[in-house]
Amino acid sequence: MLDTKKKDIMFTGIQPTGWPTLGNYCGTMCNWKYIQKKYKCFFCIADLHALTTYPRNSNKNSMKNNFSTNILDMVALYLSCGVDPNSSIIFVQSDVHTHSQLYWILSNFVYFGELSRMTQFKQRFLLKNKTTSLSLFCYPVLMAADILLYHTNCVLVGLDQKQHLELVQKIAHRFNAIYGNIFIIPDVLMLPIGNKIMALQNPEKKMSKSDKNINNTIFLLENIDSIRLKLQRALTDSDCSSDCIRYDVFNKPGVSNLLSIFSCLTSKKISILEDEFKNYQYSSFKEKLSDIVCNFISEIQAVYYKFRKDEDYLIDILMHGKENALKHSTKKLYSVFRVLNL
Ligand code: TYM
Repeated sequence: MLDTKKKDIMFTGIQPTGWPTLGNYCGTMCNWKYIQKKYKCFFCIADLHALTTYPRNSNKNSMKNNFSTNILDMVALYLSCGVDPNSSIIFVQSDVHTHSQLYWILSNFVYFGELSRMTQFKQRFLLKNKTTSLSLFCYPVLMAADILLYHTNCVLVGLDQKQHLELVQKIAHRFNAIYGNIFIIPDVLMLPIGNKIMALQNPEKKMSKSDKNINNTIFLLENIDSIRLKLQRALTDSDCSSDCIRYDVFNKPGVSNLLSIFSCLTSKKISILEDEFKNYQYSSFKEKLSDIVCNFISEIQAVYYKFRKDEDYLIDILMHGKENALKHSTKKLYSVFRVLNL
């Protein structure tokens, strides 16, 4: 029988600033294959957001080339994580002009004070306050535009984006309170395990693409031997009791982080893993973890390289994505224009 029930909409995105990390994977990408069963999904390649951190390059052409290579890499990676381009929409943010248009409109519905309280902005501002760009400050407003344009019911993100998403909900509420129910208030969807994978050498901070210490981060397209080495060197603690493999974020942040990665990739509960690794020493636990991570990433890489070879196919997916995203988002933008008398 034909299923006529419309699916709810899920939106998510990643910046194409180099290879995604194991943090990106555990925080969102690992769920992409499954979430498509329940939701109509929009997977955005957030290249306009990437401008806020991408190193400026005076040679325009080389920057453009870099971007398009990165973007094709991302499409191939999205596919290798199980995104089905026949049922989901993969598109590049800058291909769809409605995002920048709604961004400007929404910036009238958010306050300076609210944006100044965003933790991610404050952290970057502390690092280099004289050269912090306006775009970095307004970053969550562009996220609001991305999400609200698609009638989005839920947004899948890692923990670091929760505060931005709460602001998006506030902006939508504020707009609706004046102009009627134009926007759906999107729910924040976070995976119970893996929503904040920490740096391997410093489990007090998030695993990040831009970390200066390369031993902190595992990249999805990294050489497998290098991944194994990084995991074996991951910081733990000096506990050598029989139950040293224990989830305890405050007292054992390093081991807890490794357990989260293990759980995320195997779907085994943390308590089951604690039982399984009773009486293990850190070195043998890390060896098991390395096998799991390396097998997992090898499989992703094998599928990635298969797709990456066929650039015409990847470009075709983006063309369709652009068309579809434009179609959906233009409707919403026009309803916003109408109520604002634009
Ligand atoms: P980006 O590229 O910084 O991160 C992409 C996603 O990965 C999650 N993430 C992590 N999850 C767990 N552990 C980590 N160490 C880790 N590092 C990153 C992020 O929370 C994010 O979900 N601004 C977005 C991109 C974006 C977007 C959107 C997302 C643009 N528009 C609209 C959702 C909806 C970002 O953080 O990209």
